Amino acid sequence: MAERLGAAGITTVEVDPRVAEDARTALWDNGYDVTAVVGDGALGHPPGAPYDRVIATVATERVPHAWAAQTRPGGRVLVPWATDFHNGALVAFEVAADGTMRGRIVGHAAFVRLRGQNGGHASPARDVREVDRARRSFTELRPYDVLDERDASLAVGLKVPHCEPVVRRHSEGAYTLWLVDPWSGSWADLKHAPGAGRFPVRQSGDRSLWDEVEAAYRWWNDLGRPTTGRWGLTVTPEGQFAWLDDEDHRIDR
Ligand SMILES: C[S@@+](CC[C@H](N)C(=O)[O-])C[C@H]1O[C@@H](n2cnc3c(N)ncnc32)[C@H](O)[C@@H]1O
Repeated sequence: MAERLGAAGITTVEVDPRVAEDARTALWDNGYDVTAVVGDGALGHPPGAPYDRVIATVATERVPHAWAAQTRPGGRVLVPWATDFHNGALVAFEVAADGTMRGRIVGHAAFVRLRGQNGGHASPARDVREVDRARRSFTELRPYDVLDERDASLAVGLKVPHCEPVVRRHSEGAYTLWLVDPWSGSWADLKHAPGAGRFPVRQSGDRSLWDEVEAAYRWWNDLGRPTTGRWGLTVTPEGQFAWLDDEDHRIDR
């Protein structure tokens, strides 16, 4: 970027002081006098604002409004957007004159999470408890129809908050899926066996996580299986909301 645009207009923010120092040294040693700041990128960097572009190289579920506020109207903000269920989608926002920004998903991008936001904390070994008291049922929906189908997985993530999937493969085609909500203590697991028509499910806690995932999958299916490019996100000072095709079709969890 510095080569193409000139270092004077570029600011980079990194929360880890060691990584930031390495970046600064590498840039400066190569003659790029980029402003390299140590800090929380969620806050942006007001002294350099307004920016023409903001490019996040971390995944965020709640997109910081500071990025819109510090970008000039008409400017663009590119963000890897991840839910606990799905990491993630790349959203290209355009900033409006009133300081809100809206944009569509333009691709897929899995990134490490923005430090300071939740996610990526599920641990079946720690979180799966009271197995004997779990509610038992069966499902005919194959987990990989949800997890491997990006369009479905994204939609499920929109509908089902705080639900982290963890998969362990055992042998060819056999695997266990855990769904964990570390905040409520709820968990579910499902054992997939190759060739089977239905799969045993166990669910525990206040939430029935597999039921929620399955309901969200059916919701996506009934909508006509919208592809990722039809979803968008609007970020305002008050918060954010997702939509399908346009803001009139807002998605409520
Ligand atoms: C995928 S790396 C990108 C590194 C580098 N900025 C680049 O673009 O090549 C993600 C980086 O985001 C940093 N990070 C995580 N949370 C952050 C935050 N809240 N503010 C600033 N940087 C953060 C991590 O320390 C990590 O170095």
